[in-house]
Amino acid sequence: MCGIIAGIINTNIADSLIEGLERLEYRGYDSSGLAVIKSDQSIIHRKSVGKVSELKAIVKASKTEGQIGIAHTRWATHGKPSTLNAHPHLSHDCFAIVHNGIIENYETLKEELIAEGYEFSSETDSEVLVHLIHQAMQSSSSLFDAVQSITPKLEGSYALAAIDKSTPDTLVVARRGSPLIIGLSDDQIFAASDVIAFNETIEQCIYLEDEDVAAISKNLLTVMNNGEIIPRPINSISGDENGASKGSYTHFMHKEIHEQPQAIQRLIDAYLTDKGLFSNTFPVADQLAISRIKNITIVACGSSYHAALIAKLWFEAYAEIQCQVEIASEFRYRKSIVPKRSLFIAISQSGETADTLAALGHAKKLGYKKSLAICNSNHSSLVRETDLCLLTHAGKEISVASTKAFTSQLTVFLMLAIYFAQKRKLTTKNDTMMDALKQLPDQLSDALTLEPLIEKTVTPLAKAKNCLFIGRGEMHSIAMEGALKLKEISYIHAEAYAAGELKHGPIALIDDKLPVIVIAPNNDVLSKIQSNINEVKARGGQVYIFSDSDDFDQANSLIPIAPAPSLISPIIYSIPLQLLAYHIALLKGNDIDQPRNLAKSVTVE
Ligand code: M6R
Repeated sequence: MCGIIAGIINTNIADSLIEGLERLEYRGYDSSGLAVIKSDQSIIHRKSVGKVSELKAIVKASKTEGQIGIAHTRWATHGKPSTLNAHPHLSHDCFAIVHNGIIENYETLKEELIAEGYEFSSETDSEVLVHLIHQAMQSSSSLFDAVQSITPKLEGSYALAAIDKSTPDTLVVARRGSPLIIGLSDDQIFAASDVIAFNETIEQCIYLEDEDVAAISKNLLTVMNNGEIIPRPINSISGDENGASKGSYTHFMHKEIHEQPQAIQRLIDAYLTDKGLFSNTFPVADQLAISRIKNITIVACGSSYHAALIAKLWFEAYAEIQCQVEIASEFRYRKSIVPKRSLFIAISQSGETADTLAALGHAKKLGYKKSLAICNSNHSSLVRETDLCLLTHAGKEISVASTKAFTSQLTVFLMLAIYFAQKRKLTTKNDTMMDALKQLPDQLSDALTLEPLIEKTVTPLAKAKNCLFIGRGEMHSIAMEGALKLKEISYIHAEAYAAGELKHGPIALIDDKLPVIVIAPNNDVLSKIQSNINEVKARGGQVYIFSDSDDFDQANSLIPIAPAPSLISPIIYSIPLQLLAYHIALLKGNDIDQPRNLAKSVTVE
């Protein structure tokens, strides 16, 4: 979603802002813009619809020079993608702002401002911010004071950066609900929505907290929170947080698919030591409570939700803990019952998904006592707002379509299910389970070797308009994830069904134009899914089977998966489905890493 980069440097900042915007492109956007204060103390702004490269060309062709500036990638919420709606927004050519988030009471604020004579040039909620600043400056001594005075009037979420042409040495930033980080080096200071936006010289950062307002100049940084100066800690930026590169790959998604064996090994190393699973992870005070858990509620969105659906099956099968899984955007708006001795898990790759954060807030109000975040971002809002945290250690995921974060989530869930089973003395097969877990990285590497075959086999699928994915048990959720991947990057309509549901409706769709992807590991429901395949074939359907069994009619397209312990097979089968979606999208020539309309982290409702 929207991305912010703003800063002060000793040379022309426009190029640095463009580079920052390029690094933020992965978040998803439809227009972009920047504003700088020129040496004659006027604000100059440039905007463009479409890719940052178009803004870059405009900036290059015009004289856009200054040492302080703000820039933005916009993902449209209020008003279509257009140059008028693109940020920055200006008031009276004196102030400019960029904003990420949603100002929920913007209509009321806008009416009040219009009544006072303010004129709006965009349809956005964000524009109220800059006029409010202008209004507040009538009674404030500085931009810093003005921003502090307007934030209590705002409902909703914001990360914002503002400049005032009369103080070309100061940038003011503020956050509530949307991430904002200050990056520091000897001669540069930036603020951004994500560490990744910073250049390599920025090695330290400060994570702003909700309600922080900061004044940034070359030599001074002041952070205020509710009228008090707050010294926020300075953190080092680790190598894998900034400067993500594709290396020898054409797409981040392809690179991230291939990183999975290493990512999963890293995860296993983090949580499985000589002393066992999660031996040093949970605070001692929480260990007893964890071992007494009787019920788990998990909320999530998208791929994280699919991972949670599989976790439910594992928690119930291995640890005998009842588990409910809910889509975060549904859970947050309904009354539900808090089971006794329950653990509330919120799972999110980014840790900034608005619905998941709101669902966590809702759960706390409902009375859930203990919350656990499963998250890929250590500094996310989700991690800050939960009692316990398990990081997924997948490394930065840039591609909008989740791959390594998803398999890392599954692996954490699997380890957690085994851990709960151990705590409850339910595992008679502890060694076998540990052995299966340790096999994961090699098994994932094996699955990746299928790429040339998958690439060849799936070619006809690129012409399909629709596609059906079927599976049973955990593989139903893997089918859902496979269908989501295909939809996201190939724009082919895809649906997933529990294979047993076919004859309750979707079988009506089967004809020779509907490819059916079958996920059929050699397990105790193989014969059931073989019957489902026959039903599809009998109606002329084209079947593509992913299986470690060869007990299928030769007329089918079979992608042979290496046999693996059933415990880990959902993680293994994720890989060929990711590769399937990737190669179809590649054949279609789509923008794989930044699919249309999508954002990497959905920070607004
Ligand atoms: O960051 P989160 O895990 O909370 O994100 C949830 C979904 O937005 C995300 O999984 C989305 O569905 C991905 N694009 C899937 O590839």
